[in-house]
Amino acid sequence: MIVLGIESSCDETAAAIVQDGKNILSSVIASQVDVHNKYGGVVPELASRMHIEAIVPVVDEAINKANIKLQDIDAVAATRGPGLIGALLVGFCFAKSFAWARHIPLAGVNHLEAHIYSLFLMDKKPAFPFIALVVSGGHTNIYHVTSYDHFELLGQTRDDAAGEAFDKVAKMMGLGYPGGPIIEILAKTKDPGAISFPRTMLEKGSFDFSFSGLKSSVARYIHNNKVSSEDEKAQVAASFQEAVIDVLSQKLINAAQYKKCNHIGITGGVSANKTFADKLSRKAKSKKIDIFAPSVDLCGDNAAMVAARGYTMIQQGNTCLLDHDVFSRTRID
Ligand code: KG4
Ligand code: ZN
Repeated sequence: MIVLGIESSCDETAAAIVQDGKNILSSVIASQVDVHNKYGGVVPELASRMHIEAIVPVVDEAINKANIKLQDIDAVAATRGPGLIGALLVGFCFAKSFAWARHIPLAGVNHLEAHIYSLFLMDKKPAFPFIALVVSGGHTNIYHVTSYDHFELLGQTRDDAAGEAFDKVAKMMGLGYPGGPIIEILAKTKDPGAISFPRTMLEKGSFDFSFSGLKSSVARYIHNNKVSSEDEKAQVAASFQEAVIDVLSQKLINAAQYKKCNHIGITGGVSANKTFADKLSRKAKSKKIDIFAPSVDLCGDNAAMVAARGYTMIQQGNTCLLDHDVFSRTRID
């Protein structure tokens, strides 16, 4: 089965052609980062307009790169939520029209489930049951995944998402957007233990997160110490990043031990952070837990993961009708 995947939940317009839920024939991503960079974050109205401009060329490119014809597409899968409503509407309405015109089924995919499915597109996949982290600019959720369709939410952020904290700390120091990759590069040159920022673990046994205290603590440090040189910014970046990594790693290992899982998968934009993946792998190894992550091009928003999730939904007859709508917030479990 050849599935056309479409993703437009935030600031990436993406289309992919995936065969049988696992072979990526093409994956095209048009990023709007340069436009939103000026504003230090995503401007929803601009995002919607840019999705409208990009959607047709991006889908065309995905079909051309896959070297298939329009008639070869058996089904469409598009992100239905959660995300920015105006942005979601562009991809989802395009997908509805495409499916209707070609008389093929449409799957309305949950963006968080799609991130977890990015793990299944790799050669080295986690085995059920496993712990999955979806960590991005909008989410920091831990799931206990027991099958292709069962995602039990164990914990989530009570305030900022981890990626959002990276973006806000970068903004405080005038480093640009998105902050994660910039902070990771800057941090490489410094001792992560030099500044002691808080690690908020919340109540004993909780798998929830809170990053707002850390963010305020970094803001106070920058203000009180008049951080302005590149050297000082790099030091803040290294110590801030380490605090986020410590909390994410500890909660994941706690969750794996609590659920007796020896596989953990990390997904979403922040999982592209190599320092995080390396430190988590080292910590997990001593507990005999293996870490799984998508390749860098599948960590952030992409349509291959949407097509992969849509494939299983379509096989189960879990399809959308023309009157189905997008949604901005949800939980999966
Ligand atoms: O999954 P994603 O592309 O979009 C959302 O669904 O949000 O994630 C984007 C987020 C941004 O907050 C960005 O700063 C963060 O992922 N990010 C990183 C890295 N690369 C992207 N955070 C830390 N380290 C990175 N290398
Ligand atoms: Zn995402």
